[in-house]
Amino acid sequence: MAKTSATFPCQACGAVHSKWSGRCDACGEWNTLAEEASTSVPGGLKAPKGGKSKSGKVEFTALNGQQEAPPRIVMGVDELDRAFGGGLVPASATLIGGDPGIGKSTLLLQVAARLARNGLKCVYVSGEEATAQIQERARRLKVADSPVQLATETDLRKVLTALKKAKPDFVVIDSIQTMWSDNLEAAPGSVSQVRACCQELTRWAKTSGAALILVGHVTKDGQIAGPRVVEHMVDTVFYFEGERGHQFRILRAVKNRFGPTDEIGIFEMSQYGLAPAKEPSALFLSSENSDTGGAAVFAAMEGSRPVLAEVQALVAPSAYGTPRRSIVGWDSNRLAMLLAVLETRCNVALGGRDVYLSVAGGYRISEPAGDLAAAAALLTSAAGSSGPSKAIFFGEVALSGAIRPVARTEQRLKEAARLGFEQAFVPDGSSTAIKGLTITPLKRLSDLVELIAPEAAQ
Ligand SMILES: Nc1ncnc2c1ncn2[C@@H]1O[C@H](COP(=O)(O)OP(=O)(O)O)[C@@H](O)[C@H]1O
Ligand SMILES: [Mg+2]
Ligand SMILES: [Zn+2]
Repeated sequence: MAKTSATFPCQACGAVHSKWSGRCDACGEWNTLAEEASTSVPGGLKAPKGGKSKSGKVEFTALNGQQEAPPRIVMGVDELDRAFGGGLVPASATLIGGDPGIGKSTLLLQVAARLARNGLKCVYVSGEEATAQIQERARRLKVADSPVQLATETDLRKVLTALKKAKPDFVVIDSIQTMWSDNLEAAPGSVSQVRACCQELTRWAKTSGAALILVGHVTKDGQIAGPRVVEHMVDTVFYFEGERGHQFRILRAVKNRFGPTDEIGIFEMSQYGLAPAKEPSALFLSSENSDTGGAAVFAAMEGSRPVLAEVQALVAPSAYGTPRRSIVGWDSNRLAMLLAVLETRCNVALGGRDVYLSVAGGYRISEPAGDLAAAAALLTSAAGSSGPSKAIFFGEVALSGAIRPVARTEQRLKEAARLGFEQAFVPDGSSTAIKGLTITPLKRLSDLVELIAPEAAQ
């Protein structure tokens, strides 16, 4: 019998502490340590008897063996299959994390219904909602006729028994935080429960060959363990993101043992559920024309796919001693750097003025290539001029004021031309001729100032 003692795991990151404190040393979150009675074997794992496997031998093999790529279950929704790296992998475990209400249950019920209609055996286990609630959602999503097998249960032992009997191809557990194992004393949702349940379910998926999807709520208050606690135990981790006020949602892979992690799936949320976005690359463009300046389109890349996003800026006289900086969808450190480069290398002094910067549609720019578009938006706002029409921008700005080339130039330009843009301002050296697009290569940020907003410089 394992010894029982109290430990204090962090509900946010899973780090185990031997005594309570207000702040977790590992991740820096406050009030996330909770006392748990735990057995001395973490996560309820039983050590193999005798400490040796039956055969007692480990076989080594060469690196060049002929292993076939894992077969894929293609879901038939491009946005999903792409994000998964070509479809679901059987005998694997996937975690989908996201804020409550973002649409995880909706998406997964739709996927289960689709796969079940295609003849796969699909099970949906909910520990959060009552059967009637899920049936009501199925009616709203118009998937109630699909032969998905639904269960509402939180007892892990019962769930596993049912799964072993049903032998499904695809299983959704909604959510991992509601499952509990009676092997452990800890409360449902605690780190040790979430870990133990994840471990048992994952082990079952590997042996049975099912594709398992675990839903994990992201929690900010630390009352229940977050998905980070089990990220390392599963094969694939996705986060489902979106802004409440906007109807699109992005499925982003942060870990994938079977594919790339830079691909995203873009969906639109309506009352009939989530549908693949129709023109994803144009979702983050604003429809209004700006004659007063302050807007520039960035041709971004998300994995292998181009996305065009409008950057909006407002430069205003400052009413206070300390000018305001307000940013949505971009990095505040990059803005500070860009303002410094504009001031010292291009004689554009914005330091004493209020600067607001926002990316349309709730999109978030993470690429340094967005610098040039942000600069163009700031410059045209400062100059009060409309700037070049139907133009896109990309390029990284160095502290020296030089504009550095970025990857995948041709794809960015092609997508811009396809969406009707006529001009492109790009780093020097990335010249590719694209039909219908006038390309202006730039060596330095000061070249951009001269071309689009000479009035802004002193
Ligand atoms: N009857 C309805 N009509 C339209 N939208 C709804 C309806 N019921 C729920 N929704 C929307 O679906 C969203 C996603 O819900 P859900 O899939 O349960 O999220 P999650 O599982 O991530 O917590 C909710 O935020 C809500 O806005
Ligand atoms: Mg849900
Ligand atoms: Zn922590």
